[in-house]
This record gives sequence, structure tokens and C-alpha cells, in this order.
Amino acid sequence: MHIESTKVIDENRQGEATVIETAANSGSKKLYVESYGCAMNFSDSEVVASIMAKGGYATTRNLDEADVILINTCSIRENAETRVRTRLGDLKQKKKDKPELIVGILGCMAERLKKTLLEEEKLVDLVAGPDAYRDLLNLVEEVGTGQKAVNVLLSRDETYADISPVRLDLGGVSSFVSITRGCDNMCSFCVVPFTRGRERSRDPKTIIEECEDLFAKGYREVTLLGQNVDSYRWNLTSKGEIKDVEIPTTNFSQLMEMVALVSPDLRVRFSTSHPKDMTDDVLHVMAKYENICSNIHLPVQSGNSKVLERMNRGYSREWYMNRIDSIKKIVPDCGISTDMITGFCEETDEEHAETLTLMDYVEYDFAYMYKYSERPKTLAERRFTDDIPEEIKGKRLSEIVEKQRAHSHINNKKQVGNIYKVLIEGFSKKSQEFMCGRNGRNAMVVFPIGNFEKGNYVLVKINDCTSATLLGEVIEVCKPVEKN
Ligand code: SAH
Ligand code: SF4
Ligand code: F3S
Repeated sequence: MHIESTKVIDENRQGEATVIETAANSGSKKLYVESYGCAMNFSDSEVVASIMAKGGYATTRNLDEADVILINTCSIRENAETRVRTRLGDLKQKKKDKPELIVGILGCMAERLKKTLLEEEKLVDLVAGPDAYRDLLNLVEEVGTGQKAVNVLLSRDETYADISPVRLDLGGVSSFVSITRGCDNMCSFCVVPFTRGRERSRDPKTIIEECEDLFAKGYREVTLLGQNVDSYRWNLTSKGEIKDVEIPTTNFSQLMEMVALVSPDLRVRFSTSHPKDMTDDVLHVMAKYENICSNIHLPVQSGNSKVLERMNRGYSREWYMNRIDSIKKIVPDCGISTDMITGFCEETDEEHAETLTLMDYVEYDFAYMYKYSERPKTLAERRFTDDIPEEIKGKRLSEIVEKQRAHSHINNKKQVGNIYKVLIEGFSKKSQEFMCGRNGRNAMVVFPIGNFEKGNYVLVKINDCTSATLLGEVIEVCKPVEKN
């Protein structure tokens, strides 16, 4: 089956980024999938495409020819949900023109709002939560008989481990691989534990098989995904006790090592690390393998210990700084990125100022920055008042955004003059005369075209930079990447 596709990721707004996968292939019935939110949702949409393919649905890039439209949604902030509702408004006319069209809502908003979504959004026929995708074909059939269909059951063990995802961007070089689902952390601001359920880890054997398969298909980079990758554990209880003596145990650093050994030509990234759980073991494995990228996404949320306590993050400012010190000591030239929230409940000017000084301490390469958005049912909604006025939230956000821009520039400048191994992702957005790819630190590198192509590794000498991009020239094409 041939699949052609494109994807659009608004990378500046993780957590509510629109990821639109559109794929075209042959098949009798047509499915159009559109995803909002984090990488986990994008990865889930590939599982959904695989499940629907078993029922004869081929993915399409053309909304007009779709028999089924599935929208994989995000609830992380209020505006993430608003965007989905606006999108549903756009689809009303499609449904009028083609009454037999089935429109389904998947993902976190489906889980949060359950069947009330059917009442609120009349054009929606089907609602399926993140653990209910195996039931999708039945739900679609139910809708076919004139009913509305809902399955929002959360599971304690569903990992879709045995489902081989349909890659919605065949021809790509980088892919996500889910290693855990759900989250047990209960950060007070966060809706994810309610929409994704309890944390569970996926069988390492199936993770390795998926990575091997991706490599054989030409992919050269995998990003291991979980809300908290450091709490990955196979055959271990949360207290670290062995569950079944017959089965080998695996923790995150061991899993990462297993993935790194799939091929030295397969790059490994991972997201998201949690400051309270990230161990030096993980850092030592990163330092040991050249193909594990020197980049850590370590969301801090706030630089003040009292705010962190109200957020129920499980670490203090000092603990976080100690984790940063370890990264800088153990993994040379490591890129560090983060997530931050401004205007969390009761945040004072002094507390906010500590976020700014922490930023100075770390000098992040990159950050996703947000204004606090209160979410129903979360601990923060029940315990605290969302008492910081919008304009103060906005002012504090501008301050951290401005500081981050300066730090990104400083970090990029530090890389000028260095030589980096870059995996070529394709042509630069601005010009066909240039190609681009990322170095291990995850900085985007742009360089003139030459005798190399997407999926090749090249050594690039960095000559110049902006705050967003490194500019360089290829000085060597690394040994040909194996092709199957
Ligand atoms: N599991 C990851 C984060 C997942 S959500 C972690 O623990 O780091 C991605 C980011 O969205 C969070 O890191 C946080 O910065 C932001 N976020 C989550 N809930 C939010 C809310 N209610 N308001 C604003 N930002 C929020
Ligand atoms: Fe949300 Fe915290 Fe879990 Fe991340 S670790 S998904 S912020 S509850
Ligand atoms: Fe959004 Fe759900 Fe991801 S709330 S950020 S799509 S886990």
C-alpha cells in the first residue's frame, strides 16, 4: 500500500500544536485524521490509522473525499479546546453537503467531555477516548446504524503494543515511538492524568521491534515518548520491586541503551524527562552512545520552590539546579530545553522573579512558555484561586519570552565555529537552494545543497547564526546510511 503524506507541526506551541496529518492511499473508504496537541496525540493518530485500515479505510489528504473525519484533540489549556471547537464550526458545511459523513472526536477532549460533547457539538457522531481506539471500527459501525457512539473507558494496561502504526509521513526520517501512556504525577495544574489515565509502560520487546522496523523503512531518528519517560519500568513496581522473576526487568536508562543498540545510524531522542525522576544513570547512558542525542527537555514550570510546591511538582528550585549541574557535568555540550508557566495561582512578583533568575542559571536552548490556564477538576482548580489577572500573566510571559530569545541566541552563538553531525530532514523552508536538519543538541542547521539527500548524515561546520537557526557548510558526508 502506497501512502503519500505531509504533516504540519506548529513547533512553537507544544501542547496545543496543530499536527495535521494528511495521507493519500488506495482503499474503498476514506479516512481523514487531524491531530491537535502533543507528540503523543500525533503518535496515537498513527495507531488509529492502523486500526481503521483493518476495516478497509485508507487515509486521505483530501477532506472532501473523506467518509470519516477523526479529530484527535487536546485539552491542556482552554485555547487548545477553543481551536478544536472553531475547527468543528468549519466542518458544519461539509456535513450539510454530505449527510452520511461521520465526524468523530478522539483524544483528550473526548475523554474530558465524554458524551456531553455530543450535546454541545451537534455534528459530532462519535466520541472515543485515548484508550478506546481498538473499538473504533465498532463505533463507526454503530454510527452507520443511525446512533451516536461513545467509548471513553480508560484502561490500566492498554499500550497498543501489538499495533504497528501506519506512518502518516512515509518518506520521513524521524518518528515518534510511545513507551509509556498516562501519567500518575498529578501536577496540580494539569489535566493529563484525567484525560490519559494511569501510567503504564509498554513491553520493551515491542518497542525495539518498532524501532528496528522504522530503521528498515529508512527512518534515521526515533523519539521515545512518554509524559514522564524516567518513570518507564517493565516488570517493576513503582517501588522498584520485581513483579515476575521469570521476566527481565527494564528501566528507562536500560531501555534507552537497548534502543541505541538497534543501529549506530539510528539516532535516539526522548521526551519528556521529569526533574524529580531523572537519574544520573540516564545521563551516563547518553554520554556513552554517540547516537543518543545530547538534548534534554526538562520542564521546570517555575523557578520558585513555593510555586513548585503548589504545583505539586515534587522538586524544589535547588533540586532542579542540581539536575542541571549533573547534565552539564556528565553530558558535554548538551542542549537543554524546558516548559514554563506564568501566573500560576497566587504567584507573586518575587516568585516570578525567581523564574527569571533560574533561566539565567540554566541558559536554556529553547523553551515552551505559557500563561496559566485553569482546567476543570484539577487539584489547582479545587485548592487555589486563579487570581493572577490576565494582563499580569501576559506581562510575565513577555518577560520570560524576551529572556529566552536572548538565551537562545547566546546558545546558538556558542555553537558557531563548531562542527556538528546533522541528520538531513529536507529542503529549508525558505529556499530549495538550502537543506536543513538538526544537530544532536536539537538546533536547526541550514546549509547549501550539495551531493547529499534527506536521511543522510553530514558533518556541518557552523559559520553563523540567528536566534533560531545555525548556518553552516557541509564539510563531509558521513558513511552512506544503509538502505533496505
Ligand atoms: N508531562 C510533561 C508535560 C505535558 S503538558 C511534563 O511533566 O513536563 C506540556 C506543558 O504544558 C507542561 O509542561 C506545562 O508547561 C504546560 N501546561 C500544562 N497544563 C497547563 C495549564 N493548565 N496551563 C498552562 N500550561 C499548562
Ligand atoms: Fe501533567 Fe505533571 Fe503528568 Fe506532566 S508529569 S503530564 S505536567 S501531571
Ligand atoms: Fe494535550 Fe492530551 Fe497531549 S491534553 S498535551 S493531547 S496528552
